[in-house]
Amino acid sequence: MKRMTFDLHADLILADKYRVISRLGAGWEGEVYLVRETSTGIERSAKIFFPNRNPRNRSVRFYAKKLHKLRHCPILIQYHNQERIELEGERMTILVSEFVEGELLSAFVRRQPGGRLQPFEAMHLLHALVDGIEVIHDQGEYHGDLHSDNVLVQRRGLGFDVKLVDMFQWGKPSAANIQEDVVNLVHMFHEMVGGPMRYAKQPDEVKEICRGLKRGLILSRFRTAGHLRQHLETMEWTTR
Ligand SMILES: Nc1ncnc2c1ncn2[C@@H]1O[C@H](COP(=O)(O)OP(=O)(O)O)[C@@H](O)[C@H]1O
Ligand SMILES: [Mg+2]
Repeated sequence: MKRMTFDLHADLILADKYRVISRLGAGWEGEVYLVRETSTGIERSAKIFFPNRNPRNRSVRFYAKKLHKLRHCPILIQYHNQERIELEGERMTILVSEFVEGELLSAFVRRQPGGRLQPFEAMHLLHALVDGIEVIHDQGEYHGDLHSDNVLVQRRGLGFDVKLVDMFQWGKPSAANIQEDVVNLVHMFHEMVGGPMRYAKQPDEVKEICRGLKRGLILSRFRTAGHLRQHLETMEWTTR
């Protein structure tokens, strides 16, 4: 089964409690709608898990427990509850969480002039990300699915508000899982500054972080988000 959308219409009521407002997005595991709790008017996001991606409710249970365990990490969305619903004659689970205003990082980058951020601004955005993810790594935990469609971003004042959605379970937390997050962070930064087409022209400060996207070179320098943060905060500028 390859399903991309449930195509829920506005005003549909889910689980007797939530009114559908609009579609927020979709991915490999499910489709996400902005909903409003009918009794309070509070906005939430509701992720409807594709049943084939959620056997025995395993994916929902993992995601809910992980979000709860890491509920004091401000970069992650807050879990609220889960509900069983019936759609198209099939029982499935929705996971209700905090609704995050903002734009997907992928879309934000695409609509910048030239479809990329200037290095200095990209470093500020990377800093907001590593600052938040460091708190996760400090607990020995990892995100597991860091890419630009799992990051919601908003400019605020001189910096960025960033939130992460979606996590993937690659097994027990380990140094290797944390390192995978670091490699993915560097890939996101590379995407922010214009990807492979621009790489040759990037200043040394960008290359010092991207390291030709060579996994071994990245990890020999940065093994956790905290290492990346320290580097960004103390790096010397030689260009311009
Ligand atoms: N809490 C949220 N607030 C706003 N938008 C969200 C939220 N959660 C998910 N989205 C949107 O829905 C999309 C799919 O959600 P995600 O959890 O990443 O599903 P998948 O696991 O299928 O990739 C995201 O890329 C994002 O656009
Ligand atoms: Mg996703």
